[in-house]
Amino acid sequence: MGTILVTGAYGQVGRELIPELERKYGTENVIISDVIPAPPDLSRFRSSRIDVSNGESIIHAIDEFHVDSIFHLAAILSANGEKNPQKAFQINLLGTYNVLEAGLKKKLSKIMIPSTIGVFGKETPRRDVPVDTVTKPRTMYGVTKVATEILGSYYFYRFGLDVRGLRFPGLISYSAMPGGGTTDYSVEMFHYAIADKKYTCFLREDTMLPMMYMPDAINAFLQLYEADISKLTHHTDYNISAFSFTPKDLENAIQKRIPEFAVEYAPDFRQSIADSWPETIDHSEASKDWGFSFKYDLEKMVDDMITNLRKLKRVEIKNQA
Ligand code: SER
Repeated sequence: MGTILVTGAYGQVGRELIPELERKYGTENVIISDVIPAPPDLSRFRSSRIDVSNGESIIHAIDEFHVDSIFHLAAILSANGEKNPQKAFQINLLGTYNVLEAGLKKKLSKIMIPSTIGVFGKETPRRDVPVDTVTKPRTMYGVTKVATEILGSYYFYRFGLDVRGLRFPGLISYSAMPGGGTTDYSVEMFHYAIADKKYTCFLREDTMLPMMYMPDAINAFLQLYEADISKLTHHTDYNISAFSFTPKDLENAIQKRIPEFAVEYAPDFRQSIADSWPETIDHSEASKDWGFSFKYDLEKMVDDMITNLRKLKRVEIKNQA
């Protein structure tokens, strides 16, 4: 077996995917890469500095580490993408093109690429959104991710490259902070609650969005990775989600455990991004084709987040205005 390369490995998803890949395939078979040096706690892995907008660096790593498949996580999320749409285009779309081309040249066996609820837009139905629906996003993140879904699917049908992906909802986790998305408030709220600080939420209190706890998301990603290809009726755009909630629902759930916790609401530019995304998602195709399911509901997720953040004693709060 060749090795598994993870791009954008030190972000929110990578930090939890890497230990799972290690558990399943062994430390020596996981190669981690990002544009920044590897954090000290990941020093047991072989690593490479890969800027995905430079195709040569991907090819070089594939050769050096005998890479056989890639988890391509490098991306600029929705809110950061609106601060610099040109950069988001470079990383998200040209970077993905480079990964696909490298996959083709080097005959890789599989390429996994996360997509997102950000592919949806104002014309998408608000509730129980199916996989095949209107995808006319209003963010550069969404535009590049729809294009990625279609491009990945093209590489499968045109060249036989096994490209797989699913649309992550907002992801909640305690190991690493999310990197500039519209659903980041859901993680930040926990950090402020644990630090006994008041939180100022950048979305309105009634903004309902699809969400999921990270262990379920990682499990789903690996299930799709290992799924029998003959069972897949889609390739790059499976919907998944576990539950939907509003900032107020999350505030209430945290207050049940930390009664002094207080939140105020000051929506900013991220509100219009959130308003263009649906409230609930239909994940029945993922369940039918590769057995997607989830373990954590809102209450279990909140319990687990609070327990683990208290244990870690590593709370990240910014100076809010
Ligand atoms: N969490 C992502 C974002 O907010 C959505 O996929 O950008």
